[in-house]
Amino acid sequence: MIIAIDGPAGAGKSTVAKILAKRLGFLYIDTGAMYRALTLKVLENNVPINDEPGIIQLAQGVKIGLRNNTDGSLTVMLDGKDVSLAIRQGKVTQFVSDVAKIKEVRQVLVKMQREFGQKGDCVLDGRDIGTVVFPQAAKKFFIDASIGVRVQRRFKELKGLGQKVTEDEVAFDLANRDKIDSTRLTSPLRLAPDAIYIDTTDFSIEQIVEKMFNLCNIEPSVNG
Ligand code: DC
Repeated sequence: MIIAIDGPAGAGKSTVAKILAKRLGFLYIDTGAMYRALTLKVLENNVPINDEPGIIQLAQGVKIGLRNNTDGSLTVMLDGKDVSLAIRQGKVTQFVSDVAKIKEVRQVLVKMQREFGQKGDCVLDGRDIGTVVFPQAAKKFFIDASIGVRVQRRFKELKGLGQKVTEDEVAFDLANRDKIDSTRLTSPLRLAPDAIYIDTTDFSIEQIVEKMFNLCNIEPSVNG
């Protein structure tokens, strides 16, 4: 069974997706981490961000692995190397939307996401999960929040990772990525007609997960 969670950056998708997946005993698949891993590869190989053929070539040979750890964390592997932290750095965040807007890149990563999804019950979060990757998902959520709250959440998260950023820089990044992610030609961020829209602005993570869990209507697993 597939649960799709889409929405803009900083709305709390990955936080709720991770907790919900654990509670249901499902695998968690962070598709944003996959686009980030490829972007890291582009940067490490010094491929210019406007060199589409070069980026596509890298995408076609990339190996990305995701591992759900028992402590609830997610390990992201790029070509056999643990890049879980490296993909959160500012430079990757700055360029990831430019990499993710390339049609051929999406074809490669969407194929991988569908293969991951076929392994069993999964919660996937991203921008196009309910619209493109798994349009037949059993449940679809669209997680949103006001821009002010999204900036605050992302700012706190980055501070927690030890990054030196200002609120203004975070606000600029979110606005920039929102624009690219929702206006690109290939599978832009859209609310699927059958998705449940949740505005998380005034709610805690626990309240949102509880609401989503109840809407999923599934018996919790013994691990849950
Ligand atoms: O969720 P995130 O902020 O880690 O995602 C990073 C970028 O990856 C995001 O700005 C757009 C892109 N992305 C995408 O285009 N499609 C997805 N399914 C997931 C992420």
